[in-house]
Amino acid sequence: MTDTDKAASPETTKDRVLIFDTTLRDGEQSPGATMTHDEKLEIAELLDDMGVDIIEAGFPIASEGDFRAVSEIAKNAKSAVICGLARAQLPDIDRCWEAIRHADQPRIHTFIGTSPLHRAIPNLSMDEMAERIHDTVTHARNLCDNVQWSPMDATRTEWDYLCRVVEIAIKAGASTINIPDTVGYTAPRESADLIKRLIETVPGAGDVIFATHCHNDLGMATANALAAVEGGARQVECTINGLGERAGNTALEEVVMAIRTRGDIMPFTTGVETQKLMHISRRVATVSGFAVQFNKAIVGKNAFAHESGIHQDGMLKNAETFEIMRPEDVGLAGTSLPLGKHSGRAALRAKLKDLGVEVGDNQLKDIFVRFKELADRKKEVYDDDILALVTATTDGDLDRLQLINLKVVCGTGGPAEAALEMEIDGKEVSATCSGDGPVDATFKAVRALHPTEAHLQLYQVNAVTEGTDAQATVSVRLEEDGLISTGQSADTDTVVASAKAYIHALNRLLVRRGKTGKDVKEISYKDLH
Ligand code: KIV
Ligand code: ZN
Repeated sequence: MTDTDKAASPETTKDRVLIFDTTLRDGEQSPGATMTHDEKLEIAELLDDMGVDIIEAGFPIASEGDFRAVSEIAKNAKSAVICGLARAQLPDIDRCWEAIRHADQPRIHTFIGTSPLHRAIPNLSMDEMAERIHDTVTHARNLCDNVQWSPMDATRTEWDYLCRVVEIAIKAGASTINIPDTVGYTAPRESADLIKRLIETVPGAGDVIFATHCHNDLGMATANALAAVEGGARQVECTINGLGERAGNTALEEVVMAIRTRGDIMPFTTGVETQKLMHISRRVATVSGFAVQFNKAIVGKNAFAHESGIHQDGMLKNAETFEIMRPEDVGLAGTSLPLGKHSGRAALRAKLKDLGVEVGDNQLKDIFVRFKELADRKKEVYDDDILALVTATTDGDLDRLQLINLKVVCGTGGPAEAALEMEIDGKEVSATCSGDGPVDATFKAVRALHPTEAHLQLYQVNAVTEGTDAQATVSVRLEEDGLISTGQSADTDTVVASAKAYIHALNRLLVRRGKTGKDVKEISYKDLH
C-alpha cells in the first residue's frame, strides 16, 4: 500500500479515540473489588499489552498499598501512559508524582467536585474553588508535562461555572479535560451536547483533549460515553467488565467493540487489540471476585451462545444471521471442543494456549492433576471447566490453611453436619460442626479450626458448564477491620467448592495482613462519589 493509499484508507481517516482504563482505580474502589499487589501488576501488564492508551493505576495517597502498586506499574509500563489520581491538594499531587515519575510517560490526574452539592463538602465559595483549581493544576503542571483535570459531578454543575473552571484548568496547563458524569445522571443527547458546547464555548478548548467518564446508575454509561465521542470527546474512561462503584463505570469492551462494529456510523478507531478482551475480562472477574453476568454484552458467557433451534439453524447456514461480531474478534476460540479423560498433557497445554492462559511447567503439572481428577468424574471437560481449574490452582503454594477432607451429612430431617479435616501451618486438625444447611455447617467447622473475626460479605455460586455434573465456581468475600479479601474455587461438589473458596479467602486475608500490615485505606473512596 502506498502512503497515499494509506492516507485514504478508512482506518487512517477515522479519528482516534484514546482509551483510558481506570479498572485499577475507579474499578478497584468498588466495595469488595480490592486486588492484591501482584494482581494489580498483572492486570496493568495485560492492559498495556492490549493497547490501552492510558492506565489509571491508582490513587497514591490513599494508602501505602496504592502507592507501591502505582510506582511499580509506572516502572514496568511499556507503551501506556501511567496516570495517578490526586485530589486538589498539594500533598496529594506531590505523592502522586512520587509514584508515577518513574514511568516513561507519566500523567497526573487531579480533580475536585464542582457541582453545588460537591462544593458544599470542602465548604468553598465559587471564587475560592476557582483559585484552588488554578493553584493545584499549576502545581501539577510544574511537576509533570501531562496533566488531566476533572470537575467531579460535571453533569450537575452550573453551566457558567463549568465553563469558568474548565477555562482556568486549561490556562493553568491541563492538556486533558475530563467531564465526569459521577452519579450516572446524564443521558446520551445531553452527554453529546455538553461536550460539544464546551468545545465551542471555552477559550482554549480546541487545544486540549476532552474526555468522558460515565457511571452506569441508569444503565446508560456506554451510550453516554459514545454520545460524548460524537460530541467531540476523544478520550473514553472505562473499566474492564464495567467494574466500578454502585452500578459501575462504562465497560471498556463495550465501547471498543461498538466502535469497531459500527464504524459505518461511528467513524472512529481505538488502539485496543480486541482479541485480548476475553482473557482480560476473565482475569479481572477472577481477581476482583466480581463474576461477569451471563448476558453481559461482549464478554458474558452467553454473549455468543445460540440456544434456540431457529437461531442454531440460522447460525449453521450463515453466522451473520445472528452474529454481528465474530467470537474470535473478542478472543473466544471459534470452536470449543471439550477434553476428556484420555486427553494428555499436550492437549491440555494447547487448550490453555487457545484460551490465552500462560502457565509455567509447575502450574501446568498442578492443573493437569486436577484436570485428570475432574475428567474421572465428568465425561466432557469444557473450556469454562478448564478456566475454573486454572483459577482454583493459583497461589496454592502459599496457603497456610489447606482442605484435606470434608464429609457432609444433610437432608430434610434436621440440621446438616460437616466433618472437616484441614492442615493448618503443616499440622493436621479436624472438627465436626452442625449448621443450618451444609454450607453453614462447613463454614462453622472451618471457623472452629481457624477462629476468625472476618465477616462474610458475599457468597455466590455459579455453574460454569451445563448439566448436573457441572462444576460450581463459588466466590466468597470476607471483611475484617476494613481489609477485604475474596476467594474463589471450583468443584463438581458445590459444598466442597464453597469450603475451598472460604479457605482461599482466609488464606488471602492472612497474606494481606502479613505482607502489608495495616493496609487499610486512609482515605475513604466513598467520599469521592
Ligand atoms: O466519577 C468521578 O467523578 C471520578 C473522578 C475522580 C474523575 O471518578
Ligand atoms: Zn468515577
